[in-house]
Amino acid sequence: MPSRLLISEELPQVAWHDDFIPSSSIFCWTSSVVDLLCSFLMWSKSILFNAFLASAVISAPSGFPSSGNGLWYTKPGVIWSRDWLPVGNGFLAAMTPGGSVQETLQLNIESLWSGGPFQDPTYNGGNKQPNEQMAMATAMQQYRSGIFTSPTGNIDNVETLATDPGAYGSYIGAGYLVATLNVTGTVSNYARWLDLDQSIARVTWNQAGSAFTRETFCSHPTEACTHHVSASKGTLPPLTFAFSSALENGLPTPNITCLDSDTIRIRGTASTPGMLYEILGRVRIKGGKVACLSLPVPTGFPPNATAVVTGASEAWISWVGGTEFNQDAGDVAHGFFFKGPDPHAAVLALLSGSLSTASYTTLRNQHFADVQKAFGAFKLDLGQQPDLSTSTDALIEAYQIDTGNPYLELLMFNYGRYLLGSSARGTLPANLQGKWALDTGTPWSGDYHSNINIQMNYWSAEMSNLDVMKPLFTYFEKNWAPRGAYTAQVLYNISRGWVTHNEMNIFGHTGMKAFGNSAEWANYPESAVWMMLHVWDHFDYTNDVAWWKAQGWPLLKGVASFHLDKLIPDRRFNDGTLIVSPCNSPEQAPITLGCAHAQQLIWQLFNAVEKGFSASGDEDTAFLEEVRAKRNAMDKGLRIGSWGQLQEWKVDQDAPNDTHRHLSHLIGLYPGYAIANYEANLQGDLTLVNGSRATYTKAQVIDATTVSLIHRGNGTGPDADSGWEKMWRAACWAQLKNSSKFYHELTFGIFENFGANLFSLYDPFDVVPIIQIDANLGLPGAVLNAILQAPDVPTLAAPLVITLLPALPTQWATGSMKGARTRGGITIDLQWAGGKPTRALMRVDPSVVPRPVQIVFGDTVVASFTTKAGLTKTLTSF
Ligand SMILES: *[C@@H]1O[C@H](CO)[C@@H](O)[C@H](O)[C@H]1NC(C)=O
Ligand SMILES: *[C@@H]1O[C@H](CO)[C@@H](O)[C@H](O)[C@H]1NC(C)=O
Ligand SMILES: *[C@@H]1O[C@H](CO)[C@@H](O)[C@H](O)[C@H]1NC(C)=O
Ligand SMILES: *[C@@H]1O[C@H](CO)[C@@H](O)[C@H](O)[C@H]1NC(C)=O
Ligand SMILES: *[C@@H]1O[C@H](CO)[C@@H](O)[C@H](O)[C@H]1NC(C)=O
Ligand SMILES: *[C@@H]1O[C@H](CO)[C@@H](O)[C@H](O)[C@H]1NC(C)=O
Ligand SMILES: *[C@@H]1O[C@H](CO)[C@@H](O)[C@H](O)[C@H]1NC(C)=O
Ligand SMILES: *[C@@H]1O[C@H](CO)[C@@H](O)[C@H](O)[C@H]1NC(C)=O
Repeated sequence: MPSRLLISEELPQVAWHDDFIPSSSIFCWTSSVVDLLCSFLMWSKSILFNAFLASAVISAPSGFPSSGNGLWYTKPGVIWSRDWLPVGNGFLAAMTPGGSVQETLQLNIESLWSGGPFQDPTYNGGNKQPNEQMAMATAMQQYRSGIFTSPTGNIDNVETLATDPGAYGSYIGAGYLVATLNVTGTVSNYARWLDLDQSIARVTWNQAGSAFTRETFCSHPTEACTHHVSASKGTLPPLTFAFSSALENGLPTPNITCLDSDTIRIRGTASTPGMLYEILGRVRIKGGKVACLSLPVPTGFPPNATAVVTGASEAWISWVGGTEFNQDAGDVAHGFFFKGPDPHAAVLALLSGSLSTASYTTLRNQHFADVQKAFGAFKLDLGQQPDLSTSTDALIEAYQIDTGNPYLELLMFNYGRYLLGSSARGTLPANLQGKWALDTGTPWSGDYHSNINIQMNYWSAEMSNLDVMKPLFTYFEKNWAPRGAYTAQVLYNISRGWVTHNEMNIFGHTGMKAFGNSAEWANYPESAVWMMLHVWDHFDYTNDVAWWKAQGWPLLKGVASFHLDKLIPDRRFNDGTLIVSPCNSPEQAPITLGCAHAQQLIWQLFNAVEKGFSASGDEDTAFLEEVRAKRNAMDKGLRIGSWGQLQEWKVDQDAPNDTHRHLSHLIGLYPGYAIANYEANLQGDLTLVNGSRATYTKAQVIDATTVSLIHRGNGTGPDADSGWEKMWRAACWAQLKNSSKFYHELTFGIFENFGANLFSLYDPFDVVPIIQIDANLGLPGAVLNAILQAPDVPTLAAPLVITLLPALPTQWATGSMKGARTRGGITIDLQWAGGKPTRALMRVDPSVVPRPVQIVFGDTVVASFTTKAGLTKTLTSF
């Protein structure tokens, strides 16, 4: 992900929040002269602390999970990105500050985007025109020969190939729902929290002699979100539900009307002109009455309305929302228009049924049951002691690098799964901010940056048994593949398969998205190759043959077909290998040949094709043979350079002081396997060193990788300091079985890059920081990689090596994991104590392809077996 131009200059060069003085920075000397000064400093620190926490309440609110599985606070949130709490069901999302008298819920609808064909009917996915195909093919030839003949192996631009992004658009906020109680008096006993067992946000407080409760959740089965208000005293004060677009910066003012006596209807567009959306909010009450009223507006202004509740003992509003975006209309047959019907009928249909008839308790219980089903198959325990006397903002403020806090780490692990499950279960995948975006200028459009960020979002999904992958794959199939085939043709003169580049929206943006000479971002035709490894992994974990035949295999075949034609003979080194050129290592400047990242990824993709061929039912053996031949002939992207590093490019030009945020050439360490499971006989024999072939040993490749990882630094380059860099480094150190470096990077990331609401922040020191969800969702992946590893293997004949506790930090010496999944359809329950496994239970799915498995702890193979359907194995000695 970007250090992008627009943001990086804004990063202040301070090392810590101005309003916080860490204890360690106050030194108390023993001299009596300075004692006074010292106590003054300690005193002011405690004042700051108290002002910051305002902690009259020092225990978790009543009703907070006794396991500690939630986030709680003693004050309402102020800053959206840092304090507010997220809820979502994939289709809709909302952020709550936890207001008392007035709650302002900020809303999202997953497909609400400005731009695209809705704003500009000529929008073509950032592509060239058909008549430019020959010019592009010629330019490509020139760039290639420029690289082959250049003394450095580099050229300085590929500008001709890139295209202005045009109406690329942005994921945007959908307005605010404002729920106001007509009550006055001092608010006391205030608390707000997010319960991660139940996926529900709550606010409680006392006022005017009554104890109030607000609850907010988004339910997946109903595709609705619900906000409920109740009070301990019989009757609620008058309560209004209104909608505000004024609070959502840049959102065109919608028409707000009464659909009927208890339903507010909001109809607007994302931009002008732009995509149409509709939100319906139905108010339900117990006792009393509800009336939807039109509000006076100046002549010529769009109508406004509000729902007023009086005399009720409780009231709730359930809202549903949709747009006219239709992913099924993103292909040639539909002119890539992505346009469906007016959303009114569909959202109205959602409102019928339980949202209009069931009691609040029934609705809530339906949600709780769904949450249990979605998240409950997997459970991790790090031996943590829940701390119910420290609010979450104080927990993260007190957090220290290397010392850590297993309770907070487990909480953030669960929160990562919560955020993924709450944003990825709709019809579109989780974007750069999950599904939570404010206003209309979402950083980097809240899009799908596919050179680490979207991949990282899904790191934990398979192993922690979250059923969230299908919308991602359908997005590839319907949004990327159709226009990606056009891009393959006009940009690359390749008539089979499809290609995408670095950044994708929801309107089939597949061209090289340029801003000036920006090859480091634009020139990344391997994005879909990386994503196809997620497609392959899903099959490898589940053995879901029907899905593989229908969706998985066609996706892989399309991307592999394109790259079969795109690989070219290396006419610089003339070593008989096939390479990519021109290539960029993601977000790095040199435009060159044989980028290690691309070569490793394509090699892994071709292996996946071979492994998945027989299950696909495809009889195209010519394709399989071509994949095999080109895979064998291609450069494998593993080369040890002049200072012992793993080269990032085929030309040895790595700078030892390059602390770039991406670890692109280490892709085969994590999340890939080209390094982690290196096999000399498959990958080594084509490496040309000083004119002769060399075959590295696995130890040499791992050593070079370690050298590169060390030199890449800890994820605080001059260009960016974001959380995802540290999560990637943590996962890589875990893969190298280095628990102290793993824990250092993990704790450094938690220390540096997360807000009071535990959201991962791109620029944590800014007053109004940017959310970037990748580190939140990557954290569980990195944590899992320290506890259980089973990286992919090049052939199904190679044993699947499952390593238990490969990089367990001493802080997690005792713990357990239940329901973890690995490749090969295996479910594992694991218990450990004193840093060693005490019990491992393996259960093989009822339907699997038998394969050899080794269970490893330390350097020892503790068990070997071949999987078969329904096999169960228990290990108790290690
Ligand atoms: C474009 O592709 C066609 C068909 O493969 C080929 O004949 C032609 O030489 C290519 N053009 C260029 C300039 O590479
Ligand atoms: C709130 O209630 C008071 C007392 O009943 C009433 O006078 C006032 O108009 C109400 N305010 C609003 C905004 O409804
Ligand atoms: C509609 O009325 C509500 C409540 O008075 C107000 O907050 C909102 O700004 C109004 N209109 C729009 C378009 O937001
Ligand atoms: C809002 O209402 C006006 C007046 O009826 C209408 O012209 C306009 O199309 C409506 N806007 C939307 C988004 O429905
Ligand atoms: C790395 O070192 C080179 C040569 O000393 C220097 O020119 C360059 O600016 C350094 N780069 C960084 C990122 O520090
Ligand atoms: C390649 O050859 C150069 C010059 O003879 C030598 O300095 C270098 O060590 C050689 N590299 C390897 C990896 O053998
Ligand atoms: C991160 O790396 C920088 C540069 O080497 C160093 O100054 C800093 O102390 C490191 N911080 C941590 C927490 O590792
Ligand atoms: C972990 O990596 C650090 C830095 O390379 C090294 O000093 C340490 O020895 C490694 N620890 C293990 C257990 O390999």
